[in-house]
Amino acid sequence: MSKGRFIAFEGGEGMGKSTQARLLADMLREQGREVVLTREPGGTPGAEAIRALLLAPPGDGWTLEAEALLFAAARADHVARRIRPALDRGAWVLCDRFLDSSRAYQGIAGGLGDEGVRALHAIGSAGLLPDLTIVIDAPAAAAAERLVQRDGDCSDAIGGRAAEYHARVNASFLEFARSEPERFAVVDGAGSIDEVHRRVVAAAARLLAVPR
Ligand code: TYD
Repeated sequence: MSKGRFIAFEGGEGMGKSTQARLLADMLREQGREVVLTREPGGTPGAEAIRALLLAPPGDGWTLEAEALLFAAARADHVARRIRPALDRGAWVLCDRFLDSSRAYQGIAGGLGDEGVRALHAIGSAGLLPDLTIVIDAPAAAAAERLVQRDGDCSDAIGGRAAEYHARVNASFLEFARSEPERFAVVDGAGSIDEVHRRVVAAAARLLAVPR
């Protein structure tokens, strides 16, 4: 078992995940812990190159299968080169999106199926799972408002998909959390950044409390 701790932040578009991951990273660093704050798709030079291909696809875009394979390939590089080594030396890894995004976007909303996504993860990343997955769940209207502020009308190839697709994504994260309560915590994303941060800290307390 690795010495470090692995927390993933998940949720639909505009839920405030990146801000919350950064705030928790700041708090842990102030406590003197080594923190690797990273994101998916991305986190290594190779995975960042794949990210560019995924979010601004060339030509007519990717088939669902190719898209899922590219996310899995980016994750394989990220896990092997950055996440695993950090966990092995005892660091805390905070990752903005991880496997459960592939399960929600490609597996459920896209229609590839959960088994297929998990099979790719088993091959690519030896099935590595976070110790804790924090799902930030904000009302759709608040998330949409944040997105307009952030992206205007420049959303990427996946963010720009139909509202029904994103509704299925959001519902999937909640369903995953219901079926695996020991690995997930759902945090209410409504309210101020500070209020949500306090809820995130409360959700992470179970990892903070247990020495390893
Ligand atoms: P990003 O700009 O990081 O989105 P956000 O700020 O909402 O997290 O872009 C990542 C996009 O890729 C986002 O639309 C979610 C999607 N995605 C997948 O479809 N599958 C995945 O496995 C991952 C990691 C992300």
